[in-house]
Amino acid sequence: MACKYHWVIIITFQALLFADHGHGHRILAVMPYASTSHKSTIVPLISALAARGHHVTYVSGKPTEQLQNKTNVREIVIDMKVEFTVANRGAGKQSFFENIVERPFKTKMAFLEKFREVPESTINSTFKDPQIRRMMEKEEFDLVLISVITAYVGYPLAWHFNCPFVIMSPNVVLADMPFVMGDSEHTEYVPFIMSGFTHHMSLMQRTINTALVHLTTKIPKSFNTPVFDKLVQHYLPACPPLLDIEHNVSLVFTNTHPSISYPRASPPSLIEVGAIHCRPAQTLPTDMEDFINDGGNAAGFLVFTVGSVIQMDEMPEKILNVFKNVFSRLPQKVIWQWKTQPKNQTMPPNVMLSSWLPQQDLLGHPKCRGFLTHGGLLSTQEAVYHGVPVIGIPFVTDQENNMIKAVMDGYAIKLAWNDIDEEQLHGAILDILNEEKYQLNVKRLQSLLRDQPETPLERAVFWTEYVLRNKGAAALQLGSRNLSRFQRNLLDVYCVLFTILLCITATIICIVKTIRSTQRSFKQHNK
Ligand SMILES: *[C@@H]1O[C@H](CO)[C@@H](O)[C@H](O)[C@H]1NC(C)=O
Ligand SMILES: *[C@@H]1O[C@H](CO)[C@@H](O)[C@H](O)[C@H]1NC(C)=O
Repeated sequence: MACKYHWVIIITFQALLFADHGHGHRILAVMPYASTSHKSTIVPLISALAARGHHVTYVSGKPTEQLQNKTNVREIVIDMKVEFTVANRGAGKQSFFENIVERPFKTKMAFLEKFREVPESTINSTFKDPQIRRMMEKEEFDLVLISVITAYVGYPLAWHFNCPFVIMSPNVVLADMPFVMGDSEHTEYVPFIMSGFTHHMSLMQRTINTALVHLTTKIPKSFNTPVFDKLVQHYLPACPPLLDIEHNVSLVFTNTHPSISYPRASPPSLIEVGAIHCRPAQTLPTDMEDFINDGGNAAGFLVFTVGSVIQMDEMPEKILNVFKNVFSRLPQKVIWQWKTQPKNQTMPPNVMLSSWLPQQDLLGHPKCRGFLTHGGLLSTQEAVYHGVPVIGIPFVTDQENNMIKAVMDGYAIKLAWNDIDEEQLHGAILDILNEEKYQLNVKRLQSLLRDQPETPLERAVFWTEYVLRNKGAAALQLGSRNLSRFQRNLLDVYCVLFTILLCITATIICIVKTIRSTQRSFKQHNK
């Protein structure tokens, strides 16, 4: 109960803090191409800034429900030619779900391949859009908030409005951004998000890790950016190269925190706002609450979702039966997310299907005992924030890495879609329900995640306003920002030092030789 009051006070305090009007800066947030989870990280910040009296214009690719009719928020929805969907991605006529189960590697590659067409299409859709063109002609802004995923449309807008800009990453700081800020990628201990490595790597792993960062990010970026430059200049002829604009970034917000991500050295302009979207649980819809408490249920309940991108109804029959059979053996209730209600499926009586889950309200419910998830970053953060042990069954992108970290931290069990069976799943569920260590570890991380001087959202608001007040963040920028890769790694300095060492050694050798020969000739002279 004390805990509940604690949150009431915090929420009231935040409401007062955010209701402090009278700043009224104009902020442009640019995120035309985004998955639901990417959006979830920026929407709380937009709402908080609007509540503090700033006027926020949000450029998106799809109307955002949470921002409808919100005071001080205007959403510009662009008619995007590409939508964020993975339906039927991958090889053949099978669904994505079937493909990823049967040929994971090929499907993962095909999944990434599909994103190659996105940047050009996004640039075209954005700069052709009449609303954007009108905005560029008539309006002014004090700050541009750019999603790192669509930086190639954000940079030209920041340049056009001639104002400072902040980059927001929905995930860890993506490779190359540390370099832009004057730091290094630290591939010696920061695992690439799709590598499957932890922060302790062998020589071989560090080699692969470094190669991955260059092959997947840094080298493609150096080839692709000039192509994007040309296309942007088609619409904005005077626009400088994107990398020149990027060089002036004021701050980078990342969705990390040392308690749930790997800690890393970071420049002062890198601000960690991990779990920015997490909030205390609210009351559940009545039908869910009734279902959970049905018959005085003392065993609690489990939550099963695979996120917003992949559809449950594409799940292969064999795997579907594994889940159904295991769930029917449990005393717990199960709340299972299905976007479209299944036809011809009879579910065990302890299972409730729902097209939409109030995920944080479920995870924060006192009777929640476990979370079966695909291991997306936001879901992982929610599990820790609400203190619920995890069974992770990852598909693509960073999910594997998130679950490897969760297993290492001792609050999760990782399974694989291609070899999941009833015994394995049942065993894993019994383990997280009955073995104390999963509970203890997730509670330990929960208190670490909450042990901060302010909430991540308050931190993001503070730093955004810092940039507004100071017209940038020049005081925070590292001197190394203008140094080349060789200079930053001190290669030139080591060359100089080596040369000096060589000279000294050569001089000593010369002196010794001269002395010896002088001694010899002196001895000969004396014979
Ligand atoms: C927003 O306002 C319009 C017009 O007042 C109304 O029709 C619409 O239902 C509102 N939308 C939401 C999500 O409240
Ligand atoms: C984008 O626009 C350019 C110039 O009009 C055109 O050449 C190109 O094919 C378009 N690309 C996409 C993916 O729409």
